[in-house]
This record gives sequence, C-alpha cells and structure tokens, in this order.
Amino acid sequence: MADQPNQQRNQDLQSVTGEDQFSPRIDVDIAGIHFENPVLTASGTFGYGQEFAHLIDLDQLGGICVKGISADPMEGNPSPRIYETEAGMLNAIGLQNVGAERFLKEKLPFLRTLRTRCIVNVFGYSTEDYVRAIEILNEGDGIHGYELNISCPNTRCGGMVYGNDPRLTAEVVAASKKASRYPLIVKLSPNVTDITELARAAEDAGADALSLVNTFVGMAIDAETRTPRISNITAGLSGPAIKPLAVRMVYQTFRAVKVPIIGMGGIATAEDALEFIIAGARAVQIGTANFYAPETALRVADGIRDYCRRKRTHLAEIVGTLRLPHEKSVSITTH
Ligand SMILES: Cc1cc2nc3c(=O)[nH]c(=O)nc-3n(C[C@H](O)[C@H](O)[C@H](O)COP(=O)(O)O)c2cc1C
Repeated sequence: MADQPNQQRNQDLQSVTGEDQFSPRIDVDIAGIHFENPVLTASGTFGYGQEFAHLIDLDQLGGICVKGISADPMEGNPSPRIYETEAGMLNAIGLQNVGAERFLKEKLPFLRTLRTRCIVNVFGYSTEDYVRAIEILNEGDGIHGYELNISCPNTRCGGMVYGNDPRLTAEVVAASKKASRYPLIVKLSPNVTDITELARAAEDAGADALSLVNTFVGMAIDAETRTPRISNITAGLSGPAIKPLAVRMVYQTFRAVKVPIIGMGGIATAEDALEFIIAGARAVQIGTANFYAPETALRVADGIRDYCRRKRTHLAEIVGTLRLPHEKSVSITTH
C-alpha cells in the first residue's frame, strides 16, 4: 500500500523521461557518513584494502571495513586457522593485526587516497583497551567511522564476551562513543539468545548505527585423527550457511531500534543483499565471498542498481519494506 505514491511518482517520471532514463539513487547516509553505494567489504576479509587494489577498482566500493585494529599489535592464533565447510568457512585468525600506530603510519595513507569510505574496525580485551585504540586512531585523518567489534572476551570479567551481556555492551559502547572523534557503528555478535536486547543496549549507550552479524561460534572435527580442524578448537562460521540466520536477526533488530543497520552474513549476490535490505538493512557488507570472488561487492552494487531500475524505485524506498502475509512479528517457533 505504502508503495502506491512512489509508483505513481515513478510512472509520472517514466512518462516525462522515457523508460530507460530512470536513474535510481543507491547512495546512502549512515550515521552522518555518505556512501556512494550501499555495499562495503567486511572486516577481516579484505585486509587493509591495498591487498585488493590489483584485483578490483576500490573507488567503486561503497566502503571498506579494515581488519580489526587493537591498541597494540597482535600475532593471532597458530595454524590451522581456516577450514572450509559445506556452505561456508570456519576461522579463528585470533584478530591478528598491526596495531593502531602502525595502521596510521603504514595503512591509512593508502586508504586516504581512495574515494571510498574507510571504516576502521576496533577491538580490545578491556574497555580501557577499546578507548586506547580509539584515542590513537583519532589522530589519523581519512577515517570516516569506527566499527566496534564487541565479540571479544573481557579479561577483567573472567572472559565474559562483551557482546553477550547488555551491561558490558552498554559500558564499552558508552566509553568508546565518548572517546571517538568519528561516528560509531557497533557490530553485534549473533551468539546470543535475543539480539534485540543487545541492539537496544548499544543504541541506548550511544551507537550511531549497528552492523550485524559477526560469525557464529562453531567447530569441525577430523574423525580419522579425532582432532579439531582448527587449532583454537572453536571458530567463527561465516558464508552462505549463516545467511538465513543473519537475515532473521536484521529483521528483528530493525523492528527494535531506530538507528540505521548494516547487514551481513553470507552475501554473494544482489538477491542476497536485497533480502537484508528488505529486512531492514540500509547497507550491506560482503565478507567470505571476497576470498573466492573479489569482485563480488561491485557485482552486488550493480545488481542492486539494476533491481531498483527495474522496480523504478530508489534504494531508500525499499529498506525495511518486507510485505507480511498479515501483520505479525517474528517468532522463533517453527512448528
Ligand atoms: C577470516 C575472517 C576474519 C574476520 N575478521 C574480523 C575482524 O577482525 N573483525 C570483525 O568485526 N569481524 C571479522 N570477521 C567477520 C566478518 O567481518 C563478517 O562479520 C562475517 O564473516 C559474516 O559475513 P560473511 O558471511 O559475508 O563472511 C572475519 C571473518 C572472517 C571470515
């Protein structure tokens, strides 16, 4: 029903401009950051951007979320750290990174030469760690926003993961927001019973936007040797296997908060991305697909533009427009 005025306007436009001239707008504003298109590359799957410069035109990306950065450099876990599963991959890289200071000196100068938006993914093992990383990064120019990875265990609270506890989520988001020179996107963990509780905690504590989902905790075993496939034993599952779970979480979160949402989890095609957008995401990120098809983000952005042209609509007009058979909220009951 809500579509009718738009359809009328688009038909009017069509009669004035001729069918092929309709040029949909797919640029988006999130937390005061303007993205030329709604497709970003996801943290940890696209290095620091430069590694992909010989493969695709980075300026055509909506944004790049760089590998998670901590205040101090980290070596990560011993191998094996990656294992391919039936419809995705398990990883336990262990948040290996160059640290905030080397990031500013060695990685940011290249990112600054690009037209695409640069989002720096940040993490720590205590609230003070997060704040320290942000304070160092604040010195850098050319960063457009921070994405706070709250899927980390808090060493002070006996390893309790920040993103599993609304109180810890609120604490780290409020402290990071206070320290931050740039808009703050909070990246939610899917390893929770009710994602809306964590989403509200992050929003109330000052998050400018939310991104979801991070990886699902999983594991795989080599039956021959009876050993874990990954040295860390458990690992994060990503890729097509998690897409329906991630779409459901974006849908639930969209109904629970007012801040914009960036959706991800198993996106490999424009149709995948549109599922997230219709469920409520204003933008999307491409993760695992970058490993086997680095041009995915560009293809997905083109596909979204084609869809909007075909539907004679602008991207903003389809965000969160899921048509329900009859008004009902999501229920996790399946039978
Ligand atoms: C190898 C690898 C490394 C990752 N590193 C990070 C990271 O440093 N920080 C973070 O917030 N998410 C990290 N992620 C999670 C992704 O950004 C993304 O949330 C997740 O993989 C789901 O999207 P996908 O199914 O498209 O890969 C990583 C994922 C993979 C596969």
